[in-house]
Order: sequence, then structure tokens, then C-alpha cells
Amino acid sequence: MSANDPASILVFATSDKGGTGRSVTSCNIAYRLWLRGLDVAYVDFDFGSPTAGALFEIGGVERGVTEGHGLHSYLLGQTREPTRINVGRDTDRPQLRRNPPRAGSLTLLPGDIGGGEFGCNDASVRLGALLLANLLNEFAVVIVDLSAGRSVALEIALRATASTVLRNHTHRWLVFHRWTRQHVLAAGGLVHGAHGLLETATAWGHAKADLLASMRCVRTAVAESDSTRVADPAQATWLKEQANSLRELATANGIGAAMMLGQTPIEPMLQWREQLILDADVGARLANPATVAAYTNLARRLTDSTTWDTGR
Ligand SMILES: Nc1ncnc2c1ncn2[C@@H]1O[C@H](COP(=O)(O)OP(=O)(O)OP(=O)(O)O)[C@@H](O)[C@H]1O
Ligand SMILES: [Mg+2]
Repeated sequence: MSANDPASILVFATSDKGGTGRSVTSCNIAYRLWLRGLDVAYVDFDFGSPTAGALFEIGGVERGVTEGHGLHSYLLGQTREPTRINVGRDTDRPQLRRNPPRAGSLTLLPGDIGGGEFGCNDASVRLGALLLANLLNEFAVVIVDLSAGRSVALEIALRATASTVLRNHTHRWLVFHRWTRQHVLAAGGLVHGAHGLLETATAWGHAKADLLASMRCVRTAVAESDSTRVADPAQATWLKEQANSLRELATANGIGAAMMLGQTPIEPMLQWREQLILDADVGARLANPATVAAYTNLARRLTDSTTWDTGR
């Protein structure tokens, strides 16, 4: 990070719908930050379906940890020290273990297998805030994958960041959505709608304008709309019209270009298998270079303070 950037940043990955690409994209962003030499913590607050262990390919932790030291147990006050996994050491992917010399560290804090959702109360908010504050002292970037929708995880995150423990830390919110009508409407609703991020945050003491300034959208698995690549002129015209009307819909729903952190293209590898896209995958011509470029760009924009300048 540059001299003007904050010492450490807390990033929340949210989405209205499930299956948006929130976890896969967030893990790939974490990996790109790690390659850049940053110390990164990846915190799996998707209590309904913790998947980060599978994405980082940690054997036995694909659906979370079993021994009662995952994040559910921690937030319920059942363990004081949630499990930490050193991804570069414990992954089953050999190419991931051969991380380059200037790589930082990548630490996964997994959920518990079968932990499920649970209620949010003052104690879980306090424990959540304490955990995140401690991680911010240790790591340059802390990425928290939250369950989809208006979940308990989201409420804990909003209340924890409004608390005195975290109030002065830099926190950023990413809203992941696919690039279709329904996803645009859903993501706009999550940000601006009833019981959405801004409304709930304000109720817990956040300043609405500050929270909005700390929020960006990520459009995932965006289909090619370049009409020059489509053989049929009727189809090319239709695609161009849809691309324009989607852009207008996003703007009308308050998640237009100005709110965008970036987008990812459709990656065939990810249509078949949820995983990190390594440079080795591109080198072996299994994955597209444009996908790595998209993740690298998202990682760069996330930590670049000019992305978040509001001019206010
Ligand atoms: N750029 C992409 N191209 C193609 N497929 C993608 C892309 N990004 C993600 N996917 C695929 O989309 C599916 C959903 O992704 P992911 O599990 O990350 O979503 P999620 O929002 O975290 O879902 P959940 O709400 O279930 O946690 C996965 O099969 C993933 O591999
Ligand atoms: Mg997920």
C-alpha cells in the first residue's frame, strides 16, 4: 500500500442473493493481495455455508472445522481462540505452497462445520468487534465473507463497526452481484432499500454518507456484450441494447458506474470448479489471463485510497 493508505483495512464482502461469486471473488482478491506482499486475514462469517476452506483447498476444512474452535463457537463464547490456518503452509495445492519470496501471509479463520445461523446479541457483537480489532493490529487487510442477504453476520458486522472498538478503523463494504436485471435490483435493494445496509447501519449509529462512501459494488461473471464478436447482427443489436439498459438500471438503483469497484469476466474454470485462479493456471492455458487481470485490478482498487476519495 502507498504512504497515504490506512495502516490496515477491514473489508466486508456482502451480497443480497446467494451464489453471486462473493466467496470465490473475495478469496481471489485475498490471494492477489497476498502475492503483493501483504499480510491478509480471511474471516469466514458465512455461518450458513462456510466455504473458504474448500476455496483455499485446505484438506478436512472444506466445510469448516470440527473441533469446536471455529468462528461460530467463538462468537457464541464457547472458545476464546478461534482456529487459524496458514493457507500457504496447509493448502493441498502444491503451486499455492510455492508462494513467491515477496508474498506476505494468508491466514484463514474458518467457521464450524454445521454451525448454522444463530441470533445476534450484545455479546456476539462485542466478541466480533474484539476479534476484528485484534486482527487489524496484525494484518494489513482483513476480509470478512458475510452470509448472503440481511443476515445475522451482516448485523454483527454493522453493529461491531459502529462500536467504540472499531469506530475509528477504516472499513469498506463490497456488494457482489451478477450482471443481470434481477441481481441489479437485488443489490440496489440491499444497499438502498428497506432494512438494507444503509437503513440498518444508520439505526446502529453509522453516518449514512460515510457508509455510502465506503461501499462499492463488484459485478461478477459478466457476459461478453461486445457485438463485434457475435456473428448474428440481430443478436449483436439485442446484446448491445441489454448492456445499455442494464447500465441504466444500475444507475437508477444507485449502483451505477460511480459505485463500481470493478467486474470479473465469465471464467470457464470457475463455472466448473470453485477455486483460486493461480498464475500457473493461466500459464498452463487452463484459465483466462483476463480473469487474473480482473482480480489483480480489484485488489489494487480495494487498497488504493484514491478509489475511496469522495472529494468531501
Ligand atoms: N467469474 C466467474 N465466472 C464463472 N463462474 C464464476 C465466476 N465467479 C464465480 N463463479 C462461480 O459462481 C458460483 C457461485 O460463487 P460463490 O460460491 O463464490 O458465490 P457466493 O455468493 O459466495 O455464494 P453463497 O451465497 O452460496 O456463499 C461458483 O460456482 C463459482 O465458481
Ligand atoms: Mg459463499
